[in-house]
Amino acid sequence: MTLIIEKCARGVAHLRLNRPEALNALNAALIDALLEAVQRHNSNPEIGCIVLYGTDRAFVAGADIKAMLPKDFADVQAEEMFVFRINDLAKIQKPLIAVVEGYALGGGCELAMACDIILASEKAQFAQPEITLGTIPGLGGTQRLTRAVGKAKAMDLVLSGRRMKAEEAERAGLVSRIVPSEELHAEATKLAETIAGYSHPVVKMAKQAVNLAAETTLSQGLQNEKQLFEASFALEDRREGMTAFAEKRKPVWQQR
Ligand code: CAA
Repeated sequence: MTLIIEKCARGVAHLRLNRPEALNALNAALIDALLEAVQRHNSNPEIGCIVLYGTDRAFVAGADIKAMLPKDFADVQAEEMFVFRINDLAKIQKPLIAVVEGYALGGGCELAMACDIILASEKAQFAQPEITLGTIPGLGGTQRLTRAVGKAKAMDLVLSGRRMKAEEAERAGLVSRIVPSEELHAEATKLAETIAGYSHPVVKMAKQAVNLAAETTLSQGLQNEKQLFEASFALEDRREGMTAFAEKRKPVWQQR
């Protein structure tokens, strides 16, 4: 099984990539399994957040180089690799947390960037090493990395193929937080359970609003945010959240 659903508890689905023999290199089977599981949990009203783990050695060491090796232009064009499948992942409404230990290289860095939050151990390493293989990032690397860390750093990484340690990745804005290895899974669970504990429709709006920032101008983005903010006032959960504050109690979310 290339993907293991470790558990679903307290509103969180925990998914583990499981191709340790290839350092979790992404092939069609793994991407299919991942997307199917994520979409299924996205549709499950009990689930409010999805966490994606690799192993301590590698989150993902890239797209599967051995599978790509025999392909020619017509093959990759016909298959469109799995770039659209990674983009499908980025369209998921519920938050996705990537827990990165070890390597997040090429497609691995791109997969992490398609998630909403990256928690990394101090041993995590990020790179877009495609240039060393005679190709370029093909799963969103030139676009999402540039938006995350800016052109100067993205060019440095994409053109050199060098690896960036967790500390540099956090400084550059790629990684949300570095957490010591021994606390990483507990911290990811805590964060995911916190998110899953809020009103799901409101979380969805917050995620959508932040994502729109990368797609639009500032004035359009502010307009989008205003509309989403106003729309939150159509939810019972908005009234409940503010009523609970005023009554000094915990809110009881209705998910509507
Ligand atoms: N694809 C296929 N197999 C891979 C792989 C990959 N991306 N990364 C690692 N593996 C395999 C290795 O071939 C090896 O298999 P065998 O035991 O059968 O030889 C196994 O995983 C363990 O790897 P290593 O023996 O190489 O382990 P290491 O500790 O010596 O090195 C590593 C680890 C530095 C990550 C090294 O494996 C490596 O450089 N991997 C490739 C990284 C890379 O270039 N990724 C980008 C891929 S291209 C891409 O992602 C394109 C895109 O955007 C669409």
